Amino acid sequence: MKKITIAIDGFSSTGKSTIAKQLAKELEYIYVDTGAMYRAVTLYALRKKYIDADNFSINDLVSDLDNINLKFHYNEALGFAEMYLNGENVEKEIRTLRVSDFVSKVAAVPEVRYQLVKQQQKMGEDKGIVMDGRDIGTVVFPDAELKLFMTASPEKRAIRRYKELIEKGDDVKYEDVLRNVQNRDYIDSHREDSPLRQAEGAIAIDNSDMGLKEQFERILNLANRTINA
Ligand code: DC
Repeated sequence: MKKITIAIDGFSSTGKSTIAKQLAKELEYIYVDTGAMYRAVTLYALRKKYIDADNFSINDLVSDLDNINLKFHYNEALGFAEMYLNGENVEKEIRTLRVSDFVSKVAAVPEVRYQLVKQQQKMGEDKGIVMDGRDIGTVVFPDAELKLFMTASPEKRAIRRYKELIEKGDDVKYEDVLRNVQNRDYIDSHREDSPLRQAEGAIAIDNSDMGLKEQFERILNLANRTINA
């Protein structure tokens, strides 16, 4: 059967990765969560103290980029690939609010984007891939056969994220999560390099009031139609 490239972009916490994971499983495609890559670089920058609440030594991070090795390893039990930073499994740590608070700043650095986009394009060379992020349909794979743009209201997204973090045992406040979602929306869509926007030819899906099952069926339908076109 013909293999295609599926690009899923959208604001944070729109459930992109849940849908993308499910879709990749169903189609037996590779799934790549590009946000995890930006998060891992952010974790590295935090650990090296290149970034904190007051400072960001962009030059130090940029000159250290070649020492950052990112790899996804599939975890059979979990059913998805986990992020490894220089050989260490950082899947849990990259999802904390601390990393979320800094990731948009790190993701706005053109040299960081250049490196990660190159790696992402290599991963998709053979098609048969579902990739989610902010610039997949616009920059990474502008020729993707199927492009989706996911949206939902900031409040709905903050609630979803808040519940996820609480379930994981993180001690967070809803107001802080909402503020993080709104800040990231702003930075991600206003940065100079590859701002988040709906790609040409992308199909917009607002899932504010849509259940997971309904969304998945709709998206699987679109994928099958594209594959069989
Ligand atoms: O999808 P996420 O929330 O895990 O992404 C984390 C951050 O990384 C997000 O605020 C923007 C950035 N990002 C990006 O700039 N480009 C991508 N392709 C993926 C994520």
